[in-house]
Amino acid sequence: HNHLDFATPEMVRDAIATGDTHVHIPDYEGLDAYRQDGGYSTYATLRDSGDWEEVQQSLLDAGVRGLGGAGFPTGKKWGFVRANAGPRLMAVNADEGEPGTFKDRAVMETAPHLMFEGMLIAAWAVEAERIYIYMRDEYPASVEILRREIAALEDAGIVEPGYLVLRRGAGSYICGEESAMIESLEGKRGYPRHRPPYVAQVGLFGRPTLVNNVETLYWVTRVLREGKKILTGVEKNGRKGLRSYSVSGRVAKPGVHVLPAGSTITDIIAAAGGMAEGHIFKAYQPGGPSSGLLPASMDDIPMDFDCLQEHGTFIGSAAVVVLSDQDSARAAALNMLRFFEDESCGQCTPCRNGCEKAVKLMQADRWDTELLDDLCTVMTDASICGLGQAAPNPIRLVMKHFPDEI
Ligand code: NAI
Ligand code: SF4
Repeated sequence: HNHLDFATPEMVRDAIATGDTHVHIPDYEGLDAYRQDGGYSTYATLRDSGDWEEVQQSLLDAGVRGLGGAGFPTGKKWGFVRANAGPRLMAVNADEGEPGTFKDRAVMETAPHLMFEGMLIAAWAVEAERIYIYMRDEYPASVEILRREIAALEDAGIVEPGYLVLRRGAGSYICGEESAMIESLEGKRGYPRHRPPYVAQVGLFGRPTLVNNVETLYWVTRVLREGKKILTGVEKNGRKGLRSYSVSGRVAKPGVHVLPAGSTITDIIAAAGGMAEGHIFKAYQPGGPSSGLLPASMDDIPMDFDCLQEHGTFIGSAAVVVLSDQDSARAAALNMLRFFEDESCGQCTPCRNGCEKAVKLMQADRWDTELLDDLCTVMTDASICGLGQAAPNPIRLVMKHFPDEI
């Protein structure tokens, strides 16, 4: 997935502005080609004679984790959903909104059936009555591909008409948070819910709901088809498996780079063709704006789940943005907080007022670090969802690693 035939940003903007659905559709593997290659035989075998607990164990053994960003073990989540009495539902989170993240798009615009097959296997495992796909509408080519391929699946008799429901989001970042997504699917304003209960217990329309991310389902298919070795057979820096890094910023070849999960930022920049000409590596965002920024000197950390916590950050959806000597860490952090201010759903005060206040404080010539620190603590401790809880990370990390700039 290194070099994708993506629609250009100009094409996407034009399509949105004109309502023209004739967006550039990249070459992707359609249903016929996928089936010729053995596609859907894993699903058919499981559906006819499979044991869901064996499938669950295979995923746990392979180390498949939630790739929306939280890294929750996928087999375990399926078990939680099954533990709640049916009828159950499934919702696929295709609302990839994390700035810098475009790996799910890569799956949908190259190999959508690897996602669809994993989705049908997951729905079989938890006995879901219906599947809803919540789609990021700013990906018009992905929307069109999914629409076409759902019709193809229905025509081929692989799914009953109406079993797969495609829903388009409306550009809200918070609607990618799973409980806000569920509210939105129910036709309500996308406010995150308090947890517990988890959506595995009380989800869509009050039913136990399995929510899985697009790329997670892609790996479900690959592991069950090709065996756990595709993940367990790759080892680097003590970490097993593969990660799809969305790499952008000051690198020569931005794109999705699938690398060993133990890769460091040095490896990732090398895979992205090195730094762009004339740029010297200065800092990086490891996994979306809520992961903040680390300095170039911290270049030997495996970019995997559980490895960045001790440094006050996390890998999340592996959205790596590389900054150079021509960028300001302080300006990048302000940009991140402006994004959170825009996208805060406004439901709770620490996040709604906190983001706004942080932006004001960060615009001062000299940052009031004591006040900002206090504000960060309130936001982290008292916000309802991950947006408000993690929004202070860019502030904290810039105060720690780039004191000269503030
Ligand atoms: P979380 O850790 O709260 O939950 C992860 C998943 O595990 C959820 O599906 C949750 O329902 C489930 N879960 C956790 N404990 C459970 C339990 N005891 N019983 C049943 N289910 C349980 O994380 P969250 O808030 O869902 O996701 C945070 C991540 O999302 C961050 O790491 C961030 O990087 C990422 N993110 C990704 C975006 C994207 O576009 N891909 C956008 C924004 C954030
Ligand atoms: Fe909404 Fe922010 Fe509160 Fe989350 S933390 S519920 S985004 S106001």
